[in-house]
Amino acid sequence: MTSQLNKDNLPEHIAIIMDGNGRWAKAKNRPRLFGHNAGMKTLKKIVRASSDAGIKIITMYAFSTENWKRSPEEVDGLMNIAVEYFHKEVGELHENNVKINVIGNLNGLGKKVREAAVKAMDTTAANTGLVLNIALNYGGRDEIIHAVKALMAEGISPEAVTEQHISDHLYTKGQPDPDLLIRTGGESRLSNFMLWQMAYSEFMFTDIYWPDFEVDVYYKMIENYQNRNRRYGSAE
Ligand code: FPP
Repeated sequence: MTSQLNKDNLPEHIAIIMDGNGRWAKAKNRPRLFGHNAGMKTLKKIVRASSDAGIKIITMYAFSTENWKRSPEEVDGLMNIAVEYFHKEVGELHENNVKINVIGNLNGLGKKVREAAVKAMDTTAANTGLVLNIALNYGGRDEIIHAVKALMAEGISPEAVTEQHISDHLYTKGQPDPDLLIRTGGESRLSNFMLWQMAYSEFMFTDIYWPDFEVDVYYKMIENYQNRNRRYGSAE
């Protein structure tokens, strides 16, 4: 599907909380992992649609620092889905000039998934198309602590610290902040996602469960964004 979106005022960076996989599966009397597998298919669709629309960066929340509280079966299943995604999709993503960037505490992940993530990043490192940030073992507060520790280790004096210093030590360094946040699944909260970067993002929520999220709804949300007036704290 080629995007019919107006190319003026496109969001440069879209962040997405892919919520509702579990409830989608439950409504069908299926296990939660069935929902996550369906969610991976939606992820593939939305990555393609973002590339087609000329979006520069998307950040997908795949596994948070809090998601370790889920059952071992679900955690293992999600990690296996991540490994499968990196192995199976990297070829097509590479062909489509997509650059994969895994954000989060990679050291806290199992060896298999960490190696698969690093390989996918290495393979696609020189690509110049869509940047696909996949947030894995990611927490917004954890990311800020990581940035503060790095700054302190560099020996910066407290008086010298600026917003730019913090931004430059986040996992998203060098990237513009998200213009638009989309959350599916009916909840209206941030859940520790990109706390620093979302200071001026536009938020959009939908009740649709992530496995049911369709490209036309995605594009409608982008159109809605294009009609919003962003003031960044000014009066005009
Ligand atoms: C939230 O739904 C979803 C997640 C915690 C996982 C998202 C993962 C995918 C979409 C699969 C693709 C993943 C990778 C790693 C490439 P939920 O389980 O919280 O749903 P619920 O609120 O209905 O229970």
